[in-house]
Amino acid sequence: MVEVDLEAGEIDWEFTPGVLTKAWGFNGQIPGPVIEARVGDVLELRLTNHLPEPTVLHWHGLRLPAAMDGTDMVQRGIKPGDTFTYRFTLRDAGTFWYHPHMNETVQLERGLYGALIVRGPDEPTLDGERVLVLDDVKLDRKGQIKKLGGLIEGHDGRQGGARLVNGKAEPALFMAAGQIERWRIVNASSARYVRLSIGGRPFTILGTDGGLIDAPVPVTEVLLTPADRVDIAVGPFTEGETIAVDALKYNRMTVARARNESFATVRVGPPAPSRAVIPTTLRSIEPLVSGPVSPTREVHLGFKPSLRHGVTFVVNKEPHHRDTPVKVGELQVWDVINDTMMDHPFHLHGFFFQVVEVNGEPPAFRSWEDTINVPPKGRVRIAWVADDRPGEWMYHCHILEHHEQGMMGHFAVVR
Ligand code: C2O
Ligand code: CU
Ligand code: CU
Repeated sequence: MVEVDLEAGEIDWEFTPGVLTKAWGFNGQIPGPVIEARVGDVLELRLTNHLPEPTVLHWHGLRLPAAMDGTDMVQRGIKPGDTFTYRFTLRDAGTFWYHPHMNETVQLERGLYGALIVRGPDEPTLDGERVLVLDDVKLDRKGQIKKLGGLIEGHDGRQGGARLVNGKAEPALFMAAGQIERWRIVNASSARYVRLSIGGRPFTILGTDGGLIDAPVPVTEVLLTPADRVDIAVGPFTEGETIAVDALKYNRMTVARARNESFATVRVGPPAPSRAVIPTTLRSIEPLVSGPVSPTREVHLGFKPSLRHGVTFVVNKEPHHRDTPVKVGELQVWDVINDTMMDHPFHLHGFFFQVVEVNGEPPAFRSWEDTINVPPKGRVRIAWVADDRPGEWMYHCHILEHHEQGMMGHFAVVR
């Protein structure tokens, strides 16, 4: 059993050296502590709320019982001063994260999030591992978190100018020459798409949301939508090199202009021996569908005019859509259709899905996902099967402002 005590509370945080920002953290830090465990462990986590408002804690990507999903659908808000214990078995290896699921646009922006790493029996051997949680915050002239709101923020989602890795603005990462590291990356930002580049150098995708992919994939960039995770093998580099870790320009059709932005710098020190071995097969993933299938359901991501936001984001024409139940064991083939002109990261709670097609094309590798980008006017076909965990579940756009406005659906899993 892995026992963790988390306290959510107000802190003064140094996002930028020399400036103290009033923020919220878990156990006095941003991000919250990295929780590490092995497949099969039971996590018992006591959350005490010292915030001035209620909260609940969601376990993003975990296959847990519905009652432990940490949303306001399955539990009442934990009031200031109260404690709630989450207890469940960690069934899958991967890079997951935890975050509040109440007043998210405020609670996540202020710093309430953290990584959860679950290790399996057959992980590839690398020379080292780092967990990098990416975020951004919007600061005012005094270095305080800027008040939320406005039409552009409601449309684009909140994107801040301070870019953070593990709660620090554009840090230096020190790495030994000759070594290959595993980087577990979480995009915890409200709305930012991170098209990650490591100085244009090749790196290798090992895993995504639901753990290892079928086989390593060499790339020079990878897109992380809000809430996405990726595990990559990075290096080897040469002593003395300085390499920029950047988010390349990604136009997700926002009002604000996209540009290249820096997240961190890798500084390469003296060499160290390497014992890294990346196998050619990482795990076997059986496809849920093969050949032509027809979708069992369509989920339309759309918008409606609204007085308050200009537009409001919805699913199947209604905010906070009530979708039809899903039967345990029955194959789900969902077409997630984007009726808008901007990207939306679609997230399913509690279950992994396979991507069958994006705009009619099969994906580059086989994987288990809980978050997938749906391009403007695009169509993503996903397949999944609910195992025996009945209860109330949901899916939503993980741009927090869109989620808040109602770009989400609730559904029951039934026996
Ligand atoms: Cu990160 Cu409703 O989820
Ligand atoms: Cu989630
Ligand atoms: Cu959205």
